[in-house]
Amino acid sequence: MAKLLVTGCAGFIGSTLAEQLIKEGHTVIGIDCFRSNYDRNRKERNLSWLSQQPRFHFLEQDLITAEISPLLDGVNVIFHLAALPGVRTSWGADFRSYVDNNILATQRLLETAKESKSINKIVYSSSSSVYGGMNGPTIEDHTPHPISPYGVTKLSAEQLCQLYHINFGLPVQSLRYFTVFGPRQRPDMAFHRIITRILTEQPIPIYGDGEQSRDFTFVDDIVTANILAAHAPSSGEIFNIGGISHLTVNEVITIMEKQTGKKALKNYLPPQPGDPKHTWADISKAKKLLRYEPTFDIEKGIALQIEEIKKDF
Ligand code: NAD
Ligand code: UGA
Repeated sequence: MAKLLVTGCAGFIGSTLAEQLIKEGHTVIGIDCFRSNYDRNRKERNLSWLSQQPRFHFLEQDLITAEISPLLDGVNVIFHLAALPGVRTSWGADFRSYVDNNILATQRLLETAKESKSINKIVYSSSSSVYGGMNGPTIEDHTPHPISPYGVTKLSAEQLCQLYHINFGLPVQSLRYFTVFGPRQRPDMAFHRIITRILTEQPIPIYGDGEQSRDFTFVDDIVTANILAAHAPSSGEIFNIGGISHLTVNEVITIMEKQTGKKALKNYLPPQPGDPKHTWADISKAKKLLRYEPTFDIEKGIALQIEEIKKDF
């Protein structure tokens, strides 16, 4: 079985991915520095099952400052998820942290990985935010026009992956995830905030008229895409990883009202700078080259997320 490294392992997607890799019989090294984008306790809770597994080894390390080479010793695949996520918080003085955690940390990892003899794949977590807005299903060849500082940093890191592939043959694949939801979702994200506020009967901040739409992707489908990308013979490729459902925020709220049996208190606010009006993935390339097929529809995914959030009350 392989030795796999998951950066950002205490986070929403990283912890879910690491659990699946352990279940598949691999040895997993998890790295995270517990960045304060949300509560450390929540991240530690994400690691609770993993920390009981003998094949899981956690290292509290910051990729901006850590000596990377010992972390890559004998590693076969790197799943690079560590980053500062969040579109709307990437303006102003916080941008520096986005540059450091998203671009510099990725460059340090790639620079060290290029010397490794054991690595046969690096899967980078890119983002739909590299595109900016979209008017319909969008393919990977569409010219990126990020409209948030976060999107600029995710695109820069993705381009670093490409140029380490071109210049040094580093076997990197980039996956552009589209708005991920499900259990453990970050507390700043829409589904988490909306479900929590419906359950506690508090007003929900809705940015704009709620008619913005997203290609919402369930976290288990993202995990599957990572594993497929690690196994795929291709390298230097970029893939859209979207879900089954393309819906507006208003439509999502209606589903959540139905499933919780509670009425949402909607507080419409001005649109947020950096927020694309619509995102929509054309996933034909991932279907063809990775055999990726999203399986979780929105109703099923939301039910699982509501069930998880209810445990907090
Ligand atoms: P998350 O914040 O839950 O997880 C990211 C983790 O990375 C955090 O636990 C954080 O502490 C860690 N981290 C950040 N900087 C680090 C550093 N310098 N060294 C070590 N650890 C560091 O976020 P998430 O939603 O799970 O996102 C994971 C990845 O997926 C990110 O790269 C994000 O840009 C990307 N992504 C997420 C979504 C989404 O909808 N959640 C969509 C597109 C792309
Ligand atoms: C998400 C992730 O947070 C990013 O890390 C990721 O890179 C991006 O997806 C992506 O697809 O690449 P976002 O689409 O903004 O970003 O995800 P949500 O926070 O779930 O927001 C979805 C929509 O709901 C946005 O239009 C947002 O403005 C809106 N929203 C969010 C509200 O109306 N109210 C809220 O309280 C939160």
